[in-house]
Amino acid sequence: MKKFKIAVLKGDGIGPEIVDATLRVLEKVAELYGVEFSFQEGLIGGIAIDKTGDPLPDETLELCKSSDAVLLGAVGGPKWDDLPTHKRPEKGLLRIRKELDLFANLRPAKVWEPLIDSSPLKPEVVKGTDMLVVRELTGDVYYGEPRGIFEENGKRVGVNTMKYSEDEIRRVVRKAFEIARKRRKKLTSVDKSNVLEVSGLWKEIVEEEKKNFPDVELEHLYVDNCAMQIVRRPSTFDVIVTGNIFGDILSDEAGVVVGSLGMLPSASVGEKYALYEPVHGSAPDIAGKGIANPIATILSASMMLKYSFSMDDAADLLERAVEEVLRKGYRTPDIYSEGCKKVGTKEMTDKIIETLEELKG
Ligand code: IPM
Ligand code: MG
Repeated sequence: MKKFKIAVLKGDGIGPEIVDATLRVLEKVAELYGVEFSFQEGLIGGIAIDKTGDPLPDETLELCKSSDAVLLGAVGGPKWDDLPTHKRPEKGLLRIRKELDLFANLRPAKVWEPLIDSSPLKPEVVKGTDMLVVRELTGDVYYGEPRGIFEENGKRVGVNTMKYSEDEIRRVVRKAFEIARKRRKKLTSVDKSNVLEVSGLWKEIVEEEKKNFPDVELEHLYVDNCAMQIVRRPSTFDVIVTGNIFGDILSDEAGVVVGSLGMLPSASVGEKYALYEPVHGSAPDIAGKGIANPIATILSASMMLKYSFSMDDAADLLERAVEEVLRKGYRTPDIYSEGCKKVGTKEMTDKIIETLEELKG
């Protein structure tokens, strides 16, 4: 029997609830597909600060490095909001990405037919939207040096540095081309090369790599224009590749266009490791109430099945189970609309598990 070791980092806020829900789904997948998953828990984020003083303790990092994949809930909350940037729960997330060298963050945003009305855009505009943002995750202004708040002529200045090396750009761009090749063969590269040198280099590398992918159609968009086109013509995008900060912003935008942040999964992958987490945050306002939408985390687990364990059939079946449950009208409060059946985290998870069993037959 195939065995996979999964590091489970529940984190803060709704993290524990949505991760527990997802582990139940994974147990069912294991049973249906004859594999074995072992789950080992580690601390990250605010809870790790409270227990150890460090948002990413060494043991957690070691656990992740010795596992086949990492499943993460969410980090952060008002309790830690007053800490300085370098001590906040988010720092745990930024460090784990860097330490595991997870340079490509894949954020699919597709419209779920039964949820098409929850998009703020007209149904005819969003219909058929199925895009994937490939966001570079270990470089850019997030990590560039120098950074800090300094004094200049008796006044404070804040400094961050947007920086990308040729190799950092090339590896994520290549990954995006490879993914586009397996999808609808269209890649949009997003930059700000009318203003920024770093974007000029980005664009050059994309053009160089294009030579290896003649079958993939390529478009370049400036980030401001891209932000606009995502709301004007979302269904025309296939794969979007961009740097860390632009990708952070555009992936939230893509998320809302397709209806709900509560539905968006992500995979962060490098050469050696991979981490799966929902795009939404820790939602402290609803934590502990049993009403959080577990679907983004469950779909992140589906990406894990596909990308880390090559269990493509199981991944597809899980997605179909989610779609089927939505079609039957079950909704957590964040995606609720009139005439549907409102359910909490547990019931939504039960329905997905039941449907998974039915579909597997
Ligand atoms: C995300 C989040 C993080 C980021 C924050 C929480 C550090 O917004 O994963 O998109 O900016 O990368
Ligand atoms: Mg973000």
